[in-house]
Amino acid sequence: MESTMERTAETARKKNDLMKALAVIPGKPNTIHLREVPKPRVEDVPEGRGVLIKILNVGVDGTDKEINAAEYGAAPSGDDYLIIGHESFGRVESVGPNVGEFRPGDYVSLTVRRPGSSLYDQIGTYDMTTDDVYFERGINLRHGFLAEYAVDAPEYIVRVPENLKHVGVLMEPMSVAQKAIEQAYRIQQRLRVWKPKRAAVLGAGTLGLLATLVLRLRGLEVTTFGNTMPPYLNSKLIEELGARYVSTKELSLTDASTTYGPFDLILEGTGYSPLVFEAMNVLAKNGVLAMVSVTGGSRQLEVPSDKINLGFVLGNKVAFGSVNANREYFETGVKDLSTAELQYPGWLLKLLTHPVKGLENYGEMIRLLTETKGAIKVYCQVAAANETQVAAAG
Ligand code: BGC
Ligand code: ZN
Repeated sequence: MESTMERTAETARKKNDLMKALAVIPGKPNTIHLREVPKPRVEDVPEGRGVLIKILNVGVDGTDKEINAAEYGAAPSGDDYLIIGHESFGRVESVGPNVGEFRPGDYVSLTVRRPGSSLYDQIGTYDMTTDDVYFERGINLRHGFLAEYAVDAPEYIVRVPENLKHVGVLMEPMSVAQKAIEQAYRIQQRLRVWKPKRAAVLGAGTLGLLATLVLRLRGLEVTTFGNTMPPYLNSKLIEELGARYVSTKELSLTDASTTYGPFDLILEGTGYSPLVFEAMNVLAKNGVLAMVSVTGGSRQLEVPSDKINLGFVLGNKVAFGSVNANREYFETGVKDLSTAELQYPGWLLKLLTHPVKGLENYGEMIRLLTETKGAIKVYCQVAAANETQVAAAG
């Protein structure tokens, strides 16, 4: 028979094997809750390739809102809950014996998608999967990062320089902007001499702000659209980049395009799908439209289809969709975040408007996410960097 002492030791061991995490019950609205789940271990990844990460900051966005509203998201098979959070920033705590890429103490961010079975998945471009089912940490069929720890293989982890640690939580949204813009440029190689001058960014939230930044770093004249009347923080941030803010309350995209266009590149990220068709209509000849809004609804719209079609044909225009991002775009994202810190010092930090301390304050986090007008980035400070116990490296 087990002695009391043995039982206490067993309970203590079990406690060490557990961690706190924020989860939802997919399919049931408003079920966000704190729970204890098994703590991941370096050994969870085969062949000694595990990297255990202590989570520091995790950002939340519209996708998390939709997941908590049970409009989106699925639990991993075998579990009835999904740990949410896909915008990660953390610090390496320990690594498996066959990991040369990272050391304890490194600051990192993790990519979101994990490969399925298509050819695209097999070459590291899981963001381009043609499978019907896709795996996304914190979103679909894989647990996310709103937890004390995460473990993964080095392939899905990207280093963030220590000098960027204060804005490391922007890595994932930055990667989404990077992918869309880089894809637009690659598509436009069809033109041999494409020299875009004017860009429009539709949406002035985190993604719109970061896209504005990336396009300004590429030297374009940028007009960014939001539906709030200026001046407000976002419009000021846009102007600090030397871009123009237009409220669609004052000037429609169509009218703005007459004054400030035509736009050679348009990035639509408002979540309001009718704007896609207005954008198609005003896009410059030889122009490119990047669509990044994940619109889960069922909105219907009447559009001037002949006119849009004619404009596309006679103007050799392109429209494409872009979702997620693989590590390539996290890596170019790090470079642009670094350049941004040099060119527009302090700008990135101003995006981090609404920190929430600790996983246990998830109620506040969801409230800020769903109700606060004027929030740019709501994020959870899961742990402070100096709380991290790093095993003496080297
Ligand atoms: C995430 C992407 C993801 C997409 C669709 C977005 O909120 O940032 O990584 O691919 O949702 O699930
Ligand atoms: Zn997201």
